[in-house]
Amino acid sequence: MKTIDELLLANRAWASDVKERDPDFFTHLHYQQNPDYLWIGCSDSRVPANQIVDLPPGEVFVHRNIANVVVHSDLNCLSVIQYAVEVLGVKHIIVCGHYGCGGVKAAIEPPEHGLIDNWLRHIRDVRRLHATELEGLDHDRLCDRLCELNVIEQVRNVAHSTVVQEAWRNGASLAVHGWIYSVKNGVIKDLKTTVSSLAHYPKNSR
Ligand code: CO
Repeated sequence: MKTIDELLLANRAWASDVKERDPDFFTHLHYQQNPDYLWIGCSDSRVPANQIVDLPPGEVFVHRNIANVVVHSDLNCLSVIQYAVEVLGVKHIIVCGHYGCGGVKAAIEPPEHGLIDNWLRHIRDVRRLHATELEGLDHDRLCDRLCELNVIEQVRNVAHSTVVQEAWRNGASLAVHGWIYSVKNGVIKDLKTTVSSLAHYPKNSR
């Protein structure tokens, strides 16, 4: 493990390296951020947003929590979405889950994890919603598929947020995507669940 002082030294080296390659890099970023993407991902240390899509600082606005859950009343996540859409004007919101997600695995087990079980309850809801499809799968398949279904449901939750619905009503160009990342090989799979307008939703499910 690196010491805290070593991390700070590493930061100095990184900053001077970046500046050497592009002398205006930090000056430019100091004045504004102009990201086109909002990333909603898992807090897992193996899934760092910028790195896995190879984007530099300034290009992705990021919100991460355990198991990339978008709760209808989570003011933290909703504020991020509002700022990203209304102020930064992002064009894409990407919900990115990952296989082997500890949060999803824990939601499959009996609820004995303390406070976090309240958060994982949202993933148990996803499992209940898709109980028929998930029935009979072995543990690994269940975990993989629940990771995917969790992303698909969270895309839906983003699309149902007042901010996104309002943006679409105002004609904004904004798409919500569902991706899943494999920690085993570093590859992202598009779950083909993109929503980009109110027309994608039957009126009674908006
Ligand atoms: Co995770």
